Amino acid sequence: MTDIPNETAPLQRGATIILDIEKAAFEGRCIAHVNSLVVFVDGAVPGDRVSATVFRKKKQYAEARVEEVLVPSPHRVQPACAHFGVCGGCKWQHMSYEQQLVWKREHVLDAFERIGGLEGVVVNETLPAVEPFWYRNKMEYSFGEMRWLLSDELGEVNRDAELFALGLHVPKRYDRILHIDECHLESPESNLILNATRDFFLARGVSAFSTRTHTGDLRHLVIREGKHTGERMVYLVTSQRMDAVMKDYAALLQQEEFGVTTLIQGVTQRKSTVAIGEEDIVHFGDGSIREQLGLNTFRISPTSFFQTNTLQAERLYALAEQAAALRPDDVVWDLYCGTGTISLYIARDVKQVVGVELNESAIRDAGSNAEANGLENTQFICADIVDFLAPDAGHDVPAPDVIITDPPRAGMHTKVVDAIGKSGVRRLVYVSCNPTTSARDCALLREHGYEIEHITPVDMFPHTFHIECVISLRKTGE
Ligand SMILES: C[S@@+](CC[C@H](N)C(=O)[O-])C[C@H]1O[C@@H](n2cnc3c(N)ncnc32)[C@H](O)[C@@H]1O
Repeated sequence: MTDIPNETAPLQRGATIILDIEKAAFEGRCIAHVNSLVVFVDGAVPGDRVSATVFRKKKQYAEARVEEVLVPSPHRVQPACAHFGVCGGCKWQHMSYEQQLVWKREHVLDAFERIGGLEGVVVNETLPAVEPFWYRNKMEYSFGEMRWLLSDELGEVNRDAELFALGLHVPKRYDRILHIDECHLESPESNLILNATRDFFLARGVSAFSTRTHTGDLRHLVIREGKHTGERMVYLVTSQRMDAVMKDYAALLQQEEFGVTTLIQGVTQRKSTVAIGEEDIVHFGDGSIREQLGLNTFRISPTSFFQTNTLQAERLYALAEQAAALRPDDVVWDLYCGTGTISLYIARDVKQVVGVELNESAIRDAGSNAEANGLENTQFICADIVDFLAPDAGHDVPAPDVIITDPPRAGMHTKVVDAIGKSGVRRLVYVSCNPTTSARDCALLREHGYEIEHITPVDMFPHTFHIECVISLRKTGE
């Protein structure tokens, strides 16, 4: 091990150094310093003392990977998952949940102060997840003929098993599948289905699809469940129909322990690695599941978009509604409305909601969900928000009293920010999945007279560095 380099002996790629980890940076990495040089560290927890190997060295910073934890941080915990560290899914499982919440709030604060230049902004405590494990209502696994072998498995697994894997992609290796037998994100039943599916098809000698040669039959296993309704869907995507094998697979999944209420097979010959069939065959059940969000029921088909954390989505929407301080005669515009879940959540409390979204199938789903829930005061428009808000848009939609906006990670186009700023709405609620871009947008909105009242970070994805937040803005003087 080399000593910690000093200013006259710059640290080099390949050097092993000792680092005291100071804080969690964006994107799940940690920060340490060697003299005045910032080092981004993978696999650490703030408060750790580690030895780490430098794998990249630039003028402004270096990147290193933890080799050994010399003194563990008081916030370091044993990860629940056996696949932690190899599977890229839950990068923070080795940090206590309380500490994850602290860092998520810090990141929001940092983005608004540093990027937005919004000093003194009120950032509430992060709203924790109701349940930090078993929170997802959907998992999408892939089959592959290139199994990622762990160092202790090399040379041990037999050749057949090596050529057949069912699990998750190894980060940055789209040709390699990490064999997963227990994931703590969806449900114990979901794990039973995952393992029974692997065993069943392996025993039948059915091949896994190869993304290199585009041959092989099994492509994806998607498991979705209604957290409130208990309904569970298996969507198996294959290259061929395989009628006889599928009949036996259907019989297997009808065993009570799996709790599967519908099995759908999607068949596709496309080279694309998206889990969508060109033809869907329903083997049992009605081909969809239902889920409840607030007072509304949603019908979810194999490929419908739906918030992946049901319980926390309800809390997110409740916070957004509270921030909007709605009145019974309000017209609300729900921009970037997706399948209209926010629109439907608030519709009973206002005069009218107009949802706008670019994705056609999401808009169709929003309309049918509104109808199924008897919400006649909603209207859904398929349009680019930039066009919808353009001065010459020419639509006859009633002007809004309140706007709720929930853009993708890139945030809002400056034309959109400008139009919202000029709208004069009493209140504006910004639901954001990226504090960096929402801080930028809020700084521009301030120039139009919209002040942030407070921000509440909401943890939708425990054990990851992702953070959602609800930003409550008010037109000054209102
Ligand atoms: C974060 S999601 C919003 C989800 C929705 N509000 C919910 O709670 O489920 C962002 C949505 O913005 C849509 N979108 C992205 N760019 C858009 C644009 N330029 N105009 C309209 N919609 C857009 C995406 O299709 C996506 O559904």
